[in-house]
Amino acid sequence: EETLKLRVGLLNWYDHNHRELPWRKTFKEEEKEELQKNAYGVWVSEVMLQQTQVQTVIPYYNRWMLKWPTIHHLSQASLEEVNEMWAGLGYYRRARFLLEGAKQVVAEGGRIPKVASLLRKIPGIGNYTAGAIASIAFNEVVPVVDGNVVRVIARLKAVSTNPKESVTVKRFWELAGEAVDPHRPGDFNQALMELGATVCTPLNPSCSSCPASEICQALSISKCDSSVAVTDY
Ligand code: ADE
Repeated sequence: EETLKLRVGLLNWYDHNHRELPWRKTFKEEEKEELQKNAYGVWVSEVMLQQTQVQTVIPYYNRWMLKWPTIHHLSQASLEEVNEMWAGLGYYRRARFLLEGAKQVVAEGGRIPKVASLLRKIPGIGNYTAGAIASIAFNEVVPVVDGNVVRVIARLKAVSTNPKESVTVKRFWELAGEAVDPHRPGDFNQALMELGATVCTPLNPSCSSCPASEICQALSISKCDSSVAVTDY
């Protein structure tokens, strides 16, 4: 059915089109230290990516990881050092939360939790960051919803309610939770975000190169009703 089509199409598209990014690495279950180190990198990258584009984040991420390669290194940093490293990224609260979060994790034993429900208890980690770390770094089957994912799902399902309203946002988390691939949750979530950033763009989406065009309700409506366009979502 539709969910299976979406998973297969999206993951296949991602396998052929994803960008090589410094925080995208995979490890085996038994490589525990590598998994922890990677989870810290995913955490740092996802916080940086919250209001900043991928291309801008890359050099910041690389400098950050050279200075503080593990959460233990970061937990020893001062707020001044962290702000200096963040200079130019904006929203300095994000940097302060990252430092506070690192301090809390290290104070409690130094292990980054592997599930979203526990990650959410860390300062500065909300639903989005918790879902991203748990799914990308630890393969927990949980969704991630950001602005790009909201737009992709709104179009796929032709959801026309205001995506800024909290009931609608809640509905998007449910829809994303039903869609997420149980075998490759991290790749699935990153594929949805990447599809929204590169193909299913706010204006002039590239529907002809979209792996989900066959099941996209907004596209099927706009093809037979010129008063509703894919761009209205
Ligand atoms: N935007 C935020 N996080 C992302 C990720 N992991 N992959 C693609 N786009 C993103």
